[in-house]
Amino acid sequence: PGIVVLISGSGTNLQALIDATARGEIPGRIRGVISNRPGVAGLERAARAGIPTAVVDHRAFSGREDFDRALMARIDAHDPALVVLAGFMRVLTPGFVQHYTGRLINIHPSLLPDFRGLHTHERALEAGVETHGCSIHFVNGELDGGPVIAQARVPVMADDNPESLAARVQHQEHRLYPRVVRWFCQGRLRLADDGQVHFDENP
Ligand code: GRF
Repeated sequence: PGIVVLISGSGTNLQALIDATARGEIPGRIRGVISNRPGVAGLERAARAGIPTAVVDHRAFSGREDFDRALMARIDAHDPALVVLAGFMRVLTPGFVQHYTGRLINIHPSLLPDFRGLHTHERALEAGVETHGCSIHFVNGELDGGPVIAQARVPVMADDNPESLAARVQHQEHRLYPRVVRWFCQGRLRLADDGQVHFDENP
């Protein structure tokens, strides 16, 4: 199956997927990487791996709908079975989400439903939680709110700051995302019409 990965920045999650694919751990191929911002490190990571890249700069469009339409055209040129948001920092329109429902996933650096939105590590420290982590979910109309597929937990240490906590969470992101993409490419993951996530234990 073909995969398209959307990024906005460093692309460490993209790199984890590139590495997992190269190791033969994902029965799929990353056919394209698209960034909404030019010149980000994630684009270099893709280029180094020989993956076609594109920039659809949101600043070049008058509205969200125009931007999303241009983004969809670029994505659909690859006809992907799966669209992966990996550090993608744009809110997508309902039309976009509708078009990719069931084959659009995102990773969020918190244990959803806690800490939706931005600055999750600062907020987790503020709240004094003992456990934090990341969530991978199907994208639906709600921001960071879609049906959760998998989560990874990390302990919060007394001397943590946002950077140390983020690093611990990202380490888990880089382990979990390739596993979830693998499951999807194996046909073991499905978003049912009622919004429930179905996972087939034995493929
Ligand atoms: C990560 O913390 C991820 O959870 C969030 O964006 C951050 C940067 O991701 N979605 P990446 O290094 O660009 O993959």
